[in-house]
Amino acid sequence: MPLGLFDSGVGGLTVLKQVLRRHRNSSCLYLADTARVPYGNRKPSDIREIASEIAQWFRDKEVTTVLMGCNTTNSLAFDIIEREAGVPVISLIRSAASMVTKDRVGVLATKATVLSGAYKAQIELFGSKKIILEQSCPAFVPMIENGRLEMSELRRVATDYLKPLLEAKVEEVILGCSHYPLLEPLFRELLPVGIRIIDPAVGLARELDDLIGAPSATLNGNFSLASTRFCVTKSPMEFAARASDWLGKFPEVELVSLQQRACFF
Ligand code: DGL
Repeated sequence: MPLGLFDSGVGGLTVLKQVLRRHRNSSCLYLADTARVPYGNRKPSDIREIASEIAQWFRDKEVTTVLMGCNTTNSLAFDIIEREAGVPVISLIRSAASMVTKDRVGVLATKATVLSGAYKAQIELFGSKKIILEQSCPAFVPMIENGRLEMSELRRVATDYLKPLLEAKVEEVILGCSHYPLLEPLFRELLPVGIRIIDPAVGLARELDDLIGAPSATLNGNFSLASTRFCVTKSPMEFAARASDWLGKFPEVELVSLQQRACFF
């Protein structure tokens, strides 16, 4: 039985990759709620309602574990997923917080995640007296999902978002939206070398060891999609095209309805 992993769109693929690199024999059911992407500008009540549908869908699919591939849902509805999915749930935000080693931490995330305060609260659980600066980056997800990655515009937007973090002299930057690791080369270019970038998915893949056993990673970091099934709530072909940009492989994608809990082509 598969692991369930979800996001609003292609962002969760960054989590999927880390999981498949570390646990190459695991089978995954990836759900992208493309009918409702982006989540980051939605009201908390909408996000909680969506989370409930997703949890019940995974329950019907009998997944063994739910991996949070979406920080926004993680920050506002982790309790709902945990209660309604009926299986263990691994938190991206908790994984990220456990990776923090310095005292001045920057978090890049969606507006909803930043407003929830979930990152600050979780990091403080691991260590008080930290300076935590959260920056919402509403332009990134629509740019990534539309495939509108015009480098000069992206660089300009990213420079604006990073400015307050640099002024606050952060020592670590958490990519607190699963879409953002897709832009990691750009962040690396814009941030001084000494600043560590934290991808929460790395910690999440490690936490999975406790549930499914020791890693079976390949040395070259390759991964296979042979045991992954992709489902979306809208536009499967567009998702497949966008996903292939990031996975380097063109996946087969099914259209599903979360409300009716039925699969159709
Ligand atoms: N990738 C998701 C996250 O980690 C959702 C982004 C969005 O849909 O706005 O927050």
